[in-house]
Amino acid sequence: METPSFEAPGGVGRGAHGPGQGARLTLTRPDDWHVHLRDGAMLAQAVADTARRFARAIVMPNLDPPIGKVHEALAYRARILAALPAGARLEPLMTLYLTETTTSSEVARAQASGIVHALKYYPAGATTNTAHAVRDLRRCYPVLAAMERHDLPLLLHGEVTDPSVDVFDREAVFLERHLSPLMRAFPGLRMVLEHITTRAAVEFVNASPDTLAATITAHHLLLDRNALFDGGLRPHHYCRPLLKRADHRAALVAAATGGSPKFFLGTDSAPHPRHAKESSCGCAGIYTAHAALELYAEVFEKAHALDRLEGFASGNGPDFYRLPRNQDRITLVKEPWRVPSTIPAGGDVLVPLRAGEVVGWRLAR
Ligand code: NCD
Ligand code: ZN
Ligand code: ZN
Repeated sequence: METPSFEAPGGVGRGAHGPGQGARLTLTRPDDWHVHLRDGAMLAQAVADTARRFARAIVMPNLDPPIGKVHEALAYRARILAALPAGARLEPLMTLYLTETTTSSEVARAQASGIVHALKYYPAGATTNTAHAVRDLRRCYPVLAAMERHDLPLLLHGEVTDPSVDVFDREAVFLERHLSPLMRAFPGLRMVLEHITTRAAVEFVNASPDTLAATITAHHLLLDRNALFDGGLRPHHYCRPLLKRADHRAALVAAATGGSPKFFLGTDSAPHPRHAKESSCGCAGIYTAHAALELYAEVFEKAHALDRLEGFASGNGPDFYRLPRNQDRITLVKEPWRVPSTIPAGGDVLVPLRAGEVVGWRLAR
């Protein structure tokens, strides 16, 4: 990978003074290693926003019904490609939704398909469309053994659903209760702890062998749990796992900007129509695809680590997934722009992160 190029005014390096307005940052085109593109009416907007920034995307399978089989992933992939705007490109990296009835032969088919890159574990009831997901992970152990043999990674929504565990502690408890035994049982299985939110997760990943990596979202790097209650209840800041305390956010920023190859970009951009968020029982999920890379740039700028954005966004992910790094490049300009208050999506609207407010970086036209 070439080194990222920085153009003054102001320079874009690690100095105490940040880059000036108009500074440009050019880096290898990034990939999104965790995104919800949805299906049907919502698909076109999510695909267009993702393709504008990313070359490839690990596409989450939690549709209703979920994508559990290779032939379903193939059909979904075709719908994603058909939804691309004219001239746009995106390589969807498909995943399968793990259930207690997933078979080892499906794992073999997934590996042979060339289009399925991982299986996704959701604990039943943890988040959007997980009613069909896993109740007892031990029932999946034979399939996990097949994944280990076929070298197909397992992606983890790392939260317990035990109602006696405080909802802010569910990620930390997952590490002890499920991830530690999993790593002991399958030392050769590559796993990604998705959308980590706690210091405990950062420390766990750092202390683990290279078979374990983690994705970090822009919203967990930018916001702490105060953002859920800022002047009133803020449904558009509600996602799973929940935003955590400020000290956890600081640990995530240190992990993302620290240069370790174990952490990489995964937006978890998760669109829901506005009415499903602004509801007496609102859905979890934050839409960030409209400004994903730009929001990460804000985080890295504030941490005086813009020179580390390229590794996090464009290098560590492909290295972990054993895919080539992208060849083309993308340029960001330090120039504020205002996010629209809503984005039309398939006859509905969604409310994006930063709605009506300013983002400090934009994509070069
Ligand atoms: C995601 C969704 O809406 O699909 N929601 C979320 O809050 N992150 C599901 C998920 O990634 O857990
Ligand atoms: Zn999740
Ligand atoms: Zn997700």
